[in-house]
Amino acid sequence: MNTHFLPNPRRQPLTITGGDGCYVFDESGGRYLDLVSGLGVNALGHNHPRIAQAMRPDLIHTSGLYAHPFVEPLARELCRMSGLDRALFTNSGTEATEVALKLASCYARPRAHIVAIQGGFHGRSRGGLSVTGQATLREPFEPFSLPVTFVAPNEESALRAAFTPGTAAMICEPILGEGGVLPLTDTFLQLARELCTQHEALLVADECQTGLGRTGRHFAFQWAGIQPDIVTTAKPLAGGLPLGAVIFSHAVADRFPASAHGSTFAAGPLACRVALEFLQEMEALLPHISEVGEALRAALAQFGEVRGRGLMLGLPLPRPADPIVAAAREAGLLINCTQSTVLRFLPPYILTQEHVADAACILERVIQD
Ligand SMILES: Cc1ncc(COP(=O)(O)O)c(C=O)c1O
Repeated sequence: MNTHFLPNPRRQPLTITGGDGCYVFDESGGRYLDLVSGLGVNALGHNHPRIAQAMRPDLIHTSGLYAHPFVEPLARELCRMSGLDRALFTNSGTEATEVALKLASCYARPRAHIVAIQGGFHGRSRGGLSVTGQATLREPFEPFSLPVTFVAPNEESALRAAFTPGTAAMICEPILGEGGVLPLTDTFLQLARELCTQHEALLVADECQTGLGRTGRHFAFQWAGIQPDIVTTAKPLAGGLPLGAVIFSHAVADRFPASAHGSTFAAGPLACRVALEFLQEMEALLPHISEVGEALRAALAQFGEVRGRGLMLGLPLPRPADPIVAAAREAGLLINCTQSTVLRFLPPYILTQEHVADAACILERVIQD
């Protein structure tokens, strides 16, 4: 019972006291197969030996005033993986959105108009909400000053119509995560790239949920064969420590004034050291993610249409999904739902075929009931 802590957003009635691999444990020793992985953060599962080994206390924080040995190699790896040139670090995905919007504003000034996607999600700060296409999240905080046009996912003619001579950037998730695990098509993403180039606007790929291996590639935009100007990412980057990154081209960097963004905790040595270990493990797991993702997709297909890619899958149901999430939890399986009716699966990359079979067995019971 919390009298001082305000749980926000709503929580589930489960206290997690430990974790190992793909499992978490509760206060009374109950074991749960975890297909939520801290909303995509614990991508190597719990208590991964390489992450645990990297979490050393000898150098935890230096501030941005001083160099440390881990930040440049981490930035280099992220640039290599994304095809971009420079990286800045943040404490969260939301702050990464803020930085992307600041980069776009410096790049395109006086143009300020942004194109975003209906149902998209980019964080809960005022900047993040400005480009988030979900009325229930935005309405309590309206009005927003940023001029934004929201386009329905995959509506190509609406996308063409949304661009104006004042457009500075377009922001989108290659697969809408909080918006119901809804993939943007390759042709829609290719058109977005084309329109941004035509209008000298920046294409921002928000890969906070889709990035860093989740779909079986380094970043999900790579499936569409496009190159964004800015990529934001966060969730699994530092093995559970808070760390986000914004990666961008030289052209964008050149118009960003020195000291235009700063953050006391971001890019600390501990988070960066862990992130370097995470990236190496992730890269080795890419083929496995695609393979076990296909097995999970096949197992879920018996219940209906499965959306998403790799280990980011959604199962839309014809009814509210909350009772299924609750029944699965009681049966020892953690899953999550978005948009009320879509079951969402964001399991750790170390998931095995046996885990998939166990999960399918539980789901069969709870969905049929
Ligand atoms: C696509 C996307 N962007 C941004 C965010 C915000 O990230 P954070 O919660 O780390 O601030 C999220 C979080 O779920 C997300 O899924």
